[in-house]
Amino acid sequence: MRSSLPGIDRTGRTPAPPVPGTVTRRQEATFRAGLDVFTSVSAGCWLNAIGGTITVGDGCSFAGDVTISAAASVTLGREVLVARGVHISDHDHAFTDPGRPARRQGITNAAPVMVGDGAWLGHNVTVTAGVSIGRGAVIAAGAVVTRDVPSYSLAVGIPAQVVRSWAPVPPPP
Ligand SMILES: CC(C)(COP(=O)(O)OP(=O)(O)OC[C@H]1O[C@@H](n2cnc3c(N)ncnc32)[C@H](O)[C@@H]1OP(=O)(O)O)[C@@H](O)C(=O)NCCC(=O)NCCS
Repeated sequence: MRSSLPGIDRTGRTPAPPVPGTVTRRQEATFRAGLDVFTSVSAGCWLNAIGGTITVGDGCSFAGDVTISAAASVTLGREVLVARGVHISDHDHAFTDPGRPARRQGITNAAPVMVGDGAWLGHNVTVTAGVSIGRGAVIAAGAVVTRDVPSYSLAVGIPAQVVRSWAPVPPPP
């Protein structure tokens, strides 16, 4: 079944009416969603494209209170499982000018974030700028991912460290 979150149109056109408090879209053509996305989305997700691109592959599932913010690009592959409270950002706020508050120093460190097919981001995971998470990887609840995580690996903690890896199951013949 094709489904889409109310307020999101996979063609890129502006849908009507938007759903307040569910999704923020600041620009046209900055959000692309595949098929069967959002079949289990809950309230409070915030997709924020501030000059960047958010791409969500077929069959991804977002629980509630997921935030994705893109100044460069955030790309989720197919069938990515995103638990509640996950935050993914591909940039930071600049903060080293002592004469200005961070909120007035602009965006820095913008670098693409990639999450591979079939990955699982656990509850309250944070993914920081420039990180690639491999296919089938699992990020344990509460982890902060600051470096790449290889495919078919479990990463835990702050900063997230790989604690084990496994071989992918080959597809049936
Ligand atoms: C990672 C997880 C899936 C367990 O997987 P597992 O293969 O059974 O892993 P283990 O329990 O054997 O843990 C492996 C190691 O990682 C540690 N670990 C597991 N989860 C951790 C976490 N969230 N934070 C920090 N360390 C963690 C364990 O203590 C263990 O360390 P040790 O070897 O030093 O004892 C589970 O702990 C988890 O985080 N689940 C997420 C649940 C969630 O977010 N659900 C939302 C619904 S989508």
